[in-house]
Amino acid sequence: MCGIIGYSGHRPAVPLLVEGLHHLEYRGYDSSGVSFIQAGKLHVVKAAGRLSALEAKLAHEPVMISTCGIGHTRWATHGAPEERNAHPHLARGGSLAIVHNGIIENFQELRDELTASGCTFVSDTDTEVLACLIEEERKRASSLLEAFARALRRARGAYAVAMVAPEEPGTVYAARLSAPLLIGVGTGECFVASDVPAFLNYTRDVVFLEDGEIARIGRGGGSWELFRLDDLAPVSRATTRIAWDMQSACKDGYKHFMIKEIMEQPRVVAECMAGRVPADPARDVLDGVSLPELDGMDVPRRLRIVACGTSYNAGLWGARFLEKFGGIPVDVEIASEFRYRDPLLEEGEAVLAISQSGETADTLAALRLAKEKGRAALGLCNVVGSSIAREADAVLYTQAGPEISVASTKAMCSQMVVLLLLALYWGKRRGKKDDSALLTHLRGLPALLEGALPAMRETATHAARTYSGARSFFYLGRGPSYPLALEGALKLKELSYIHAEGYAAGEMKHGPIALIDPDFPTFALALRDEFFAKMVSNIEQVQARQGRVIVLTQPDSCGECGDLHADVLWMLPSCHSELASFLALPALQLFSYEVADYLGKDVDQPRNLAKSVTVE
Ligand code: M6R
Repeated sequence: MCGIIGYSGHRPAVPLLVEGLHHLEYRGYDSSGVSFIQAGKLHVVKAAGRLSALEAKLAHEPVMISTCGIGHTRWATHGAPEERNAHPHLARGGSLAIVHNGIIENFQELRDELTASGCTFVSDTDTEVLACLIEEERKRASSLLEAFARALRRARGAYAVAMVAPEEPGTVYAARLSAPLLIGVGTGECFVASDVPAFLNYTRDVVFLEDGEIARIGRGGGSWELFRLDDLAPVSRATTRIAWDMQSACKDGYKHFMIKEIMEQPRVVAECMAGRVPADPARDVLDGVSLPELDGMDVPRRLRIVACGTSYNAGLWGARFLEKFGGIPVDVEIASEFRYRDPLLEEGEAVLAISQSGETADTLAALRLAKEKGRAALGLCNVVGSSIAREADAVLYTQAGPEISVASTKAMCSQMVVLLLLALYWGKRRGKKDDSALLTHLRGLPALLEGALPAMRETATHAARTYSGARSFFYLGRGPSYPLALEGALKLKELSYIHAEGYAAGEMKHGPIALIDPDFPTFALALRDEFFAKMVSNIEQVQARQGRVIVLTQPDSCGECGDLHADVLWMLPSCHSELASFLALPALQLFSYEVADYLGKDVDQPRNLAKSVTVE
């Protein structure tokens, strides 16, 4: 998704803008650009492709001493990913430049109107339309601030936008509606950005913009102001200090962020449990957590989970534990489907929106719909201060730290931990006795994972070499391993571009098994749980059709693998049967990682994908 950075302060702006854009690369992009004001003139430099292309162009620019500017990484929505469509976009009269993340839904209507009044456009973007609209409004407005607001009031859709104009050379204007944007407050300097890493080397003090607010930075040496979009009334807000530093957003010596994030899952599990799984068995799990009153009850009568992608798979996994341990009926829905139905939500039913970024447009819309329908809305997010976290009636944080790789890994692991704890928490409130054996094993999970990961990586590397030539893959699982099969398939396709499908193993015989042949391998999850024997039968059905199989399994109580035979018999350590998923998940992630790396793919930024999907 697009990344925005703006700066006003006492240092040369362009190097800061480019540095900030590098820290936003994880969001995915196909072109980039910067704009700054020098000697009273607006300069724009942009390039298609990687940031290095922009840097190469900037190297040929005359010395840039401007201390104010905006920058952007674009993830194409309107128009092809080429330089003409890259941001910043100029208003045709050259009076201002803007960068934008999101979609202006009524851009065609606005474009037709502006064309009729004489505007011409050089790009296919909705952003250029917005730039021209601001310029038009400036003819009627008494100030740049008012023109900016008047134009934005006419825009429908979602946006985060930043603007510079020679009329006010040291000032950056910015605004948000359903897309992330925040201010970084330094000493004598301010930033606006889509995310904290863009300016974290310079300040940890942050002001979160709310929907329908305008920010103005840089008037009077590093100052910042907020205004309401509708009436330009000033808004006061305190700064928030961000706890994590840039170190945690670096690769720690690993080749990619993804492998770093996979390997840090033992710590993620430990930190996710910190303060939530008390050592004292007399105290409750999630003790002190504050969840809203749910129609007078402290446990929902029913729960609807809404999420997308990996977070959806985590929700599907968590549903069976929320039912089993929490005693709550749970439905799990893809957020983009939920939001466009008129879902019937029962009295006492709560909605739980799961999202790593907390900015996924469909999940945010699903949460808002639940609130409109008067239901309690809970959030399960990783990014503190994100839109979902702020709009939910209550939020549980996964505490996984920044996830930079586009492919979600440690976030899912942490979502699973919190869902399991939530199930135990609600179960206790419904009078079910908590499973102290399970909690004891959960406390031991970080050490178990830590010990298992190096061998897992070796097996993954070996299996990846053998199977990277496959053109299609099945992933099969039952019970809690079914959502993991979906996740394994999602990871393989998004990273290595190999076609992969996840199936509930019992469904194979209803059609998909027709595809099995020696060139169509299967990755089967046969963990030591109540579904093991059934999985063994499903694996045999695949093998009877000459299908090659990788089996992810665990030894039986005698330390044996029993009757299981496979092309790759991948042994995970034994553990409490309810926790086996926490070992299987990194194995699936590692396999996809190693295949993609072996094939030379862009692991951290797979093609066509964005980290934070803030458009529908
Ligand atoms: O930030 P979210 O958890 O809401 O993101 C949801 C999906 O976009 C995300 O999980 C996506 O599927 C990942 N690329 C999967 O690796």
